[in-house]
Order: sequence, then structure tokens, then C-alpha cells
Amino acid sequence: MTPAKHPKHDAAHQHVTGEARYIDDIPTPKDALHLAFGLSHCAAGEILSVDLEPVHSASGVRMVLQASDLPYLNDVSPSAHDEPLLAEGHVHYAGQPIFIVVADSHLEARKAAQLAKIEIARHAAILTIDQAMEANSRFEDGPRIYKKGALASAMSKAEKHLSGQFDIGGQEHFYLEGQAALALPGDQNDMVIHASSQHPTEIQHKVAEALNIPQHAVRVEVRRMGGAFGGKESQGNALAVACAIAALKTRRPCKMRYDRDDDFIITGKRHDCRIAYKVGFDATGRIEAIDFTHYFRCGWAQDLSLPVADRAMLHADNAYNLPNVRITSHRLKTNTQSATAFRGFGGPQGILGIERVIDHISHKLGLDPVQVRKANFYPEMGSNKSAKTPYGMDVTDFILGDMTKNLLESSCYNARRSSIAQWNSSNPHLKRGIAFSPVKFGISFTLTHLNQAGALVQIYADGSVLVNHGGTEMGQGLFQKVSQVAARALGVPQNFIRASATDTSKVPNTSATAASSGADLNGMAVFAACKTLRDRIAKHLAQSYDCSPTEVTFVDGKITGPGFKVDWAEATKSTYENRISLSSTGFYKTPDIEWDRIKGQGRPFLYFSYGAAITEVVVDVLTGENRILRCDILHDCGASLNPDLDIGQIEGAFVQGAGWLTTEELVWDNQGILKTHAPSTYKIPACSDRPDIFNISLWDAKNPEATVYRSKAVGEPPFMHGISAYLALSNAVSACGDAYPDLQAPATSEEIFNAIARSKRSTA
Ligand code: MTE
Ligand code: MOS
Repeated sequence: MTPAKHPKHDAAHQHVTGEARYIDDIPTPKDALHLAFGLSHCAAGEILSVDLEPVHSASGVRMVLQASDLPYLNDVSPSAHDEPLLAEGHVHYAGQPIFIVVADSHLEARKAAQLAKIEIARHAAILTIDQAMEANSRFEDGPRIYKKGALASAMSKAEKHLSGQFDIGGQEHFYLEGQAALALPGDQNDMVIHASSQHPTEIQHKVAEALNIPQHAVRVEVRRMGGAFGGKESQGNALAVACAIAALKTRRPCKMRYDRDDDFIITGKRHDCRIAYKVGFDATGRIEAIDFTHYFRCGWAQDLSLPVADRAMLHADNAYNLPNVRITSHRLKTNTQSATAFRGFGGPQGILGIERVIDHISHKLGLDPVQVRKANFYPEMGSNKSAKTPYGMDVTDFILGDMTKNLLESSCYNARRSSIAQWNSSNPHLKRGIAFSPVKFGISFTLTHLNQAGALVQIYADGSVLVNHGGTEMGQGLFQKVSQVAARALGVPQNFIRASATDTSKVPNTSATAASSGADLNGMAVFAACKTLRDRIAKHLAQSYDCSPTEVTFVDGKITGPGFKVDWAEATKSTYENRISLSSTGFYKTPDIEWDRIKGQGRPFLYFSYGAAITEVVVDVLTGENRILRCDILHDCGASLNPDLDIGQIEGAFVQGAGWLTTEELVWDNQGILKTHAPSTYKIPACSDRPDIFNISLWDAKNPEATVYRSKAVGEPPFMHGISAYLALSNAVSACGDAYPDLQAPATSEEIFNAIARSKRSTA
């Protein structure tokens, strides 16, 4: 059948009218209690005493819990069991929860949480990359190193050399719905949890561990999140576990939501990092040898930092065929929030590293950076040349050569580049900049076993279909896409299909909805379940009408075969009456992938998603203030499941990526206190920061891999287009002096102002 014409997000109407329900909108039983954490104000030290008497006697307080009051495991870590729910003996960052207040209202709980008298003997905190390197404070024994070719000899043979380093800031997720959870105690210690989580199964596991009950006794439901962006893969564990423990102890429903400031102060963010490089290249800018060192500030607990830092290494090549390369990655342990997943999962940092290097080389050689990028591209798909990534994976689906050509033409890049040069030569106070950046992003979880998904599809006697799968909805449109897959597979109109809330009792042992693989994995699992059901219905009709099941077709709600045509609902009713099951599970695992993260060798990804962006900016030289004037993006979603949703993802990702590298700045003081913990001090992009001219097109080609209807993942890859905004700002700064701009990220107005001053000094 022909695919439906871009149906809109299934909850679009609810989102814009405010009717969509989030955790805090679920009507709670009237005896529900509310939780708040009491936090450490010290980044590192030994807890000497905790006086909770003033908390206990505060208005509305029902219970106060410390680590020693917890019934069983004190752990909310998604990985190394190094993250206690409540601090025990020592504190490891300013913001670490030390106790839980359980009160009649949210406000009473929060107020009481301020009243504890806690004595802490301060230890010297390790806050910065330099301090952590100095103290050898790290996760894993030493740095992880991936390499390919003969670095030393290629480096010494290269005609030209450059080296440098730059710092890249972190990023607060700033999901509009903050972290929240609600626990409802049930029969025989059963626990139902409503969580704003990308990973209901992990919430289930952590709650079961904390209460010492089997996993079957915990049911986690997620209807939707009001944004997540990786910040709800692991960071919701603490709230859900705290609520479950309080619910177990009080036998009353318990709810917790972080106020925005607490959300900033308690939860992990994107890893900030430093990237150092040495590169050897020829006169055309072709890279012959490159040596990267990544320094990732991981915070106090391991969380997902190892796979995040791995993915940064796996994207250190981005779109470029690097013959001799070494990537060394330090995962540093610091007394700050535990840095976590954030859209791109380390990929953006790795990609920005190589993009900055190519930009530096182009500046040094006085060449158009687009030429230098093209000179280093992987061989194009179908070109008979082959190339391997630094981790030994064959790149067989590369299409950026064609995409780049197309985007340069559609955006009039060459003409605009010359007119910008002209403008800059005659305007002393306003400088313009333009930059191109490509992205090649690997799709699959690097932890291979996570690449699986389950579904449960139920057809009711009236023909309506309920689709359950393990993925979660965070605004990205996964439920809409998966419903479209079901409609297409069953040959019924969209209005027959409804996606249920994600529920661990319907589909067990799921992976987080992450790594952009939500639609790839769950779409395939739902497809498999639908196929089983369709085959059953076809077989039943074939028997009734005496034909072969292969002659039965399902189109537009009609089932047709030789000499018959029945309505879908009629067919489902008769299938039911013939005592044939109309419920089926489906399962999918990604084929052909294998990965050894210690050796740094294998095929971690099923395929790559591609895209390219060209962004133009203008900078006020006197203040550093700037605007994005125009952005053109060409992005590859394979055969898009829903072009409107995909374009929405691309728009949002660009704006979020540009925000990371321009206005969003996290500042800790020298005691490790995060000073930017509200929108008053932390600037996310607003509607007015969206480029005035914003052209987004989809590259029209099928995924060569057999993914769901040949589509490609879209969630994270377009985040990298924000890099073009940073490079364009750097390009504008370079018009102010001869030196290569010493521009750190984020390129805030202040940073741009200072970079201009530095570049004038070094020119003088
Ligand atoms: N889009 C919206 N609106 N909200 C989100 O929280 N998260 C991003 C991306 N797009 C996010 C989003 C991240 S980090 C990922 S991994 C993917 O969506 C997850 O969903 P998918 O696998 O279904 O693409
Ligand atoms: Mo996305 S960072 O993989 O949740």
C-alpha cells in the first residue's frame, strides 16, 4: 500500500493544547505523599554529623530517611554500582542527595529539606581536568587507546604539521518536564511506578534491587516524557527508587519531582572535555597522520561515561578517511555531577574535534575548508574504493560526496562565500562568517546486546489494534512512526492503531530508548508481530475461501483474495470466532554487528546516517554579540518513515546543537558549586534564536541495509549540524586578524569578544 501522507505526531494536539499528561498531571490518590532530597553543599568530604531534628519537626513532614534507613541496596547506578541513592560516610559532589524528606506537600518537603544541620569535614575537591590528570583520578586503569596505521612514521614523513587544543563545554538537558516519578504501592509488596524515563526496564530493575523483591513485582509505566535528550536514561533512577522506598515504608503513594534548580544541581549533563591534536598533512590539506587526546570530565560516578567516551573516539574520524591515527581517551573522575548521556552520546565532542582540526588546516593553507573536507572524505558508495574506520569497520554506504555537491549548489555556497569576503573587507564592525560541516553518525548501541527489541500487538474483535513496544516517547515521534509501521504492515488505515503507554509488564527486558535506534528496533519488532498476525488472518481467510494464503492481500482496510473482498473488522471478527489468537509478540535483533571495546575493533554499527549543513552568522566585533542568519541542511533519513517528523527532529537538533556551542554555558565556582542552575543564568536557544532562513531538505535514498522500510535513524545525527554554527562564528572571528581564532566552546558573546581581542593581539 502507499504509505500514509505524513500523519502528524499522535499527540501533537495534546502537546499544543496542554492536554498531554506528564507525571505531575496524573491524578494522585488523596493520601499521596511528596518527596524532596536534602543535598550536600560541599563537593568532597567526610560527613561528621547529620542533625535531622529540625527537618522532622517541620510542618507536614511524615518521615525522613538517611542511608542507614534504606531497606536493602543503596544504589541507583546504571553501570558500576558506585552511585548510592543517599550519601554514606562521604560526599562526592555539591548536590549529592544525603537524605529524603517525605511530607504532605511538595512545598513542605522542599522547605524542610533546607533545615538539616550537616557537618562535613572538607577534603580537597578534584574539579578540573588539570586537577584530575595531576591526581590520576580516573575511571578504568589508564586511558583507552584506539589506533590504525603507523602513526609515528607517517607523522614524521608528512610535509606540514599543526597542533593545538581546545575546550568544549558541557550542556544541561533542559527537558521542559523535569525529572519526576510516582510510586503506587500494591498488593503483596507489588509496586507500580510511573516515571519520566527513557529506560523503564532499568527503573524496574533498580526498584526491585532496592526493595529486594523480584522484578515481576515491579511494573513501570511511561506514557511520555516532556523531553529527555539522554538525560532520562539513568538520571531518573534516584527519584523512582526513593519513591518506591517511601511507598513501601508508608504504604501510601509517593511522588517526587525536581524543581528546576535542583534538577540542574543534582543531575548529570553532557561531558565537557578538552581535545588536543597533532596532525601531519600535505599541501592540499589531505591528512596523513593524526593524534588525538580526549580528556573527558566524567564527574563523581561512572554512570554511562565509558560508552560515552568510547563513542567520542568512534566519531573522531567523522566523515574522513584517516590513514594513520591514534585516539587516546582519558575518563576523568571529578567531584562534580556525574556526566551522562546527551543527544549524540559523546559523538558530538569527537566530531567537533576533527572538524576543528580540518578548519585549522584550511586556515593554515589558506584553502576553502570545503575543499579540504572533500579531499579527506571517505570513498563514495559504489566507487570501487574501500576504506576502514580507525576501529576497523568498512565504510560502504558513504554518500557525503553527492550530498555535499547538492547542498553547495542549493545554498549558493561559493557565491555567498565571496560576497561575505567582500562585505568583511568593507565593514570594520560587523563581520560575517560561513561554514560547512558534514556528519557521519554510527547507528546501533555499542554495547551489542542492547540492540534488541520486543513488541506485543493485540487485535481486538472490532478490528482495533493496540501496539505495545519497549520504546518510549519523548517528543521524537516514535509512537507515531511505530503506529505507521503497524498500519502499513497490516494494511489498515492509521485510525485503527493505538500505541499503548510503555509498560514493563507487556514487553520485558527492554533497552533504553536511546542511540537513535528507537524506530529501527521497535519498528522492526512491531513489524514482526504484525506479520505473524497478518499471516494468521490470511491463513484463516484462505481456508474459508479456498485459496492460498499468498493470494490474500491487505490494503486500505480491505482484505482481498480470488473472488472475495472483506472489511478488516469483519475479518478480525471471524478470525476471533474461529478461535484463532489475535495477539502476538514480535522480536528483533540487529544483525551483523560485533564490537570489542577494549581492542577497539569490529563493526559496532549497522550503518551510518549522513547529513551536511551550511550556516552563516554575523558578529558584532565591538561586543561579540552575534546572530545566525541562515542555515541550510541536507539530511539523510533513508526512506523516511515520516518526513514531517524527521524535519522536526532535524530543526530541533540543529537549534539544540547550536545552543550547546554558543549560548549554553555551565559555570562552577572553585568550590565545585554549579552557579548556573536556572534559565536566568543558563541561556538555551529561544524561538528568536532560530535562523531567519532555515532550509531543511531530506536526501531521498533508501538505506542499503534492510532496516524498517529502509529508513534511517534521525534522533541524534542532526545535532551535529550545530557544529557549522560554531565554525561559522570562528570564520567571522578569523576576519578580525591573521591568526587562527583561539575560540573555545561555547562561543558565547564574551568568548567571541575575547577571541577577537586575542586574535588582534597576536596579529599586532
Ligand atoms: N526529540 C525530542 N523531541 N525530545 C527528546 O528528548 N531525544 C533525542 C532524540 N530526539 C529527544 C528527541 C535523543 S538523545 C535520542 S537518543 C533519540 O531522540 C531517541 O529517540 P529515537 O531513538 O526514537 O530517535
Ligand atoms: Mo540519546 S543521548 O542516546 O538518549
